[in-house]
Amino acid sequence: MNDTTKKMIALAYEALRHSYSPYSHYQVGCCLLAENGKLYHGCNIENASYSTTLCAESSALGTMITDGAQHIKAVVIVNHLETACVPCGACRQRLAEFCDDDTRFLLCNKSEILNTFTLADLLPHRFNATTMKEKDN
Ligand code: THU
Repeated sequence: MNDTTKKMIALAYEALRHSYSPYSHYQVGCCLLAENGKLYHGCNIENASYSTTLCAESSALGTMITDGAQHIKAVVIVNHLETACVPCGACRQRLAEFCDDDTRFLLCNKSEILNTFTLADLLPHRFNATTMKEKDN
């Protein structure tokens, strides 16, 4: 595991410690590596109105976009159970907007990478900007 991945896991755990999850008690942390080399972390934020819950991935994405970065090179996701947390469908679509097909998603526990997927593994045939354009004949 390289130093950047170690740093990303540590930051994702730091975020996880701030998870607001009184309903599910499922704590998630995420860290995004942007093209500018900066790391952005976030945690899940639940709400009494359950459907307004924000996932850790979307929370980190908000921080990244607010800072002016728009391209994701790698994603680390951790949870408190230390078994892999796979990103939900909505977060896959949200993150896809700022990823390449080969952007790597590392599903980790405190000390190791449990699973590695590319964006294309997680979200093949996705809806994106080119979907809305007519194909040239
Ligand atoms: N959750 C995330 O933060 N990320 C995921 O990819 C899956 C689910 C959160 C949302 C909610 O607070 C809790 O996990 C249980 O669904």
